Amino acid sequence: MKESKPVVRIAATARYLPDDVLANADLERMVNTSDAWIRERTGILERRIAPKDMTAADMGERASLAVMEKTGIEPSDIDLIIVTTATPDRWLPSTACEVQSRIGAARTCFAFDLHAACTGFLYALSVAEGQIASGRCETVLVVSTEKMTSIIDWEDRSTCILFGDGAGAALVRPSDDDKGILSSYHRSDGDMALVLQRPAGGTAKPIDEEVLRNRDHLLRMSGREVFKSAVQSMARAGSLALEGAGKTCDDVDLMVPHQANVRIIESTARYAGIPMERVFVNLHRYGNISSATIPVALDEAAEQGKLANGALVLLTAFGAGLTWGAMTMRW
Ligand SMILES: CC(C)(COP(=O)(O)OP(=O)(O)OC[C@H]1O[C@@H](n2cnc3c(N)ncnc32)[C@H](O)[C@@H]1OP(=O)(O)O)[C@@H](O)C(=O)NCCC(=O)NCCS
Repeated sequence: MKESKPVVRIAATARYLPDDVLANADLERMVNTSDAWIRERTGILERRIAPKDMTAADMGERASLAVMEKTGIEPSDIDLIIVTTATPDRWLPSTACEVQSRIGAARTCFAFDLHAACTGFLYALSVAEGQIASGRCETVLVVSTEKMTSIIDWEDRSTCILFGDGAGAALVRPSDDDKGILSSYHRSDGDMALVLQRPAGGTAKPIDEEVLRNRDHLLRMSGREVFKSAVQSMARAGSLALEGAGKTCDDVDLMVPHQANVRIIESTARYAGIPMERVFVNLHRYGNISSATIPVALDEAAEQGKLANGALVLLTAFGAGLTWGAMTMRW
């Protein structure tokens, strides 16, 4: 089957990770856990922590400026900025507008936040693809930035060991050859909303003294349920995205999955029929940075020479909502 011509491609990526490292040994002093348990059950060795005064927009700004510098793109060249984050600087206005102002693109483009938790980057790529395909935009800046440590319950050992902070950015442009997005498959399941949530802080349960006492403004998760759904959904989405591109698992040069737990990645890869030698993993150093994991991983994979020109790449993601998705692209 002849490969269909992509409409858009990722022209460049960049990342920003805060300097401060929180190792498993540090967590041993904070909650009843051990380095051995965290390594064995998650694969995570350490994660980055943003300083108290560093926001999601601060990290997004750094990743954005880095990707603009790489490509020589001026602020006025950008038509749309999509920020994906579960940890916005504030509820109003959007973090995207904040990033827009910081990078000097105010008034020359439009900007909005897209909230799909850990799947945000893939959803945003699809929105960017649609905007470019329609002819409304030529250059879309997708920025995934997360300060997960700001919404973690540091007394809950089953969640506080998992997450970290950081940002990734991608410049999405029209494709003029065979490189770019070939297919995508996205779904969500609102029936499963409660398995991974922040119960309070929104209109359903505004913050009051009781909320603070019960720590309901922080992240809550049914780990085992999330684990099971993640594997099934990502493996199926991956297979369907491959099918949509007329490809099989044998064609995949590199799978870049959402980095939540190495056991989730290994099981997903096994179900999808892709050996681990062809799967990119960096979660041992960063933990789960929610929607930023894939752009950060792509940027590192490219830097390490793991994304050859013309490589077939499979992206898979999963997150709260529940949301999930997969994409194939020729790099
Ligand atoms: C959270 C997660 C690591 C827990 O691993 P698990 O193998 O499922 O472990 P369980 O939840 O079954 O708990 C097993 C035991 O370990 C304990 N445990 C949980 N966290 C622990 C920790 N940090 N250190 C030591 N023990 C811990 C539990 O209390 C439980 O003890 P019990 O049997 O006495 O009750 C795993 O479920 C997971 O990664 N889920 C997906 C989470 C995720 O990725 N979310 C984001 C999606 S985008």
